[in-house]
Amino acid sequence: MKKILFVILLLVAVELTGCGNQKGKISNGKSSEIPSTKAVKKMTSNNNFGRSLVVYYSLTSHTKQVAESIHHRVGGDIVAIQTEKSYPTTYSATTAEVKKEIRQNQLPQLKTADIDWHQYKTIFVGSPVWYGNLSLPMQQLFRQHQFQSGIHIAPFFTSGSSSPKEAFTTMKRLQAQPSYHQPLGITNDEQSDRNRLVDQWLKGIKFD
Ligand SMILES: Cc1cc2nc3c(=O)[nH]c(=O)nc-3n(C[C@H](O)[C@H](O)[C@H](O)COP(=O)(O)O)c2cc1C
Repeated sequence: MKKILFVILLLVAVELTGCGNQKGKISNGKSSEIPSTKAVKKMTSNNNFGRSLVVYYSLTSHTKQVAESIHHRVGGDIVAIQTEKSYPTTYSATTAEVKKEIRQNQLPQLKTADIDWHQYKTIFVGSPVWYGNLSLPMQQLFRQHQFQSGIHIAPFFTSGSSSPKEAFTTMKRLQAQPSYHQPLGITNDEQSDRNRLVDQWLKGIKFD
């Protein structure tokens, strides 16, 4: 009899302490899976930053590769901005064409991109540096599209070796309403290290 009483008491104790349950309990009495630390971290990040979009322009894929690295880490959507008219295929012909556009104060027409901007709270914007400045297609996007205040822009740039400083200044001059995170700049020499640099940057802007 004593033995049976002991077993009953033991079972009650186990149930009360929750040790007999592999699932977590929430206050309404329903049980739910305890999310892994990683899942909690991701959910927290999304709560802080909202749904994100990675939008970029890239002529020779350097910025595209950085954009994909960011997208892989932050999720959300990714869109490439494209010009109506293609730039020439050689570097010298392209630079000649871009110089002409700059001289004539002309920005390239963009293909219409089907973006529902309103669903994003954080927008990662990527561009190559052209003549020390923001690439012309990205300047066009910033002239055509009005970013709302309350939007967070996280800019990233690739370049041969130039600093992204002037390109970033141009971005802020063209669109003053959104708030801006510190930009990421990756030179061609640093491309092979881009995943680490992206991680470091995301950590710096608290998106990790
Ligand atoms: C028209 C043009 C102008 C450029 N001007 C610069 C420059 O001023 N400074 C620099 O470091 N790199 C310059 N570059 C190199 C690009 O910024 C660099 O290769 C960049 O990573 C290319 O990105 P993408 O492959 O995404 O187009 C220029 C390239 C082009 C095509």
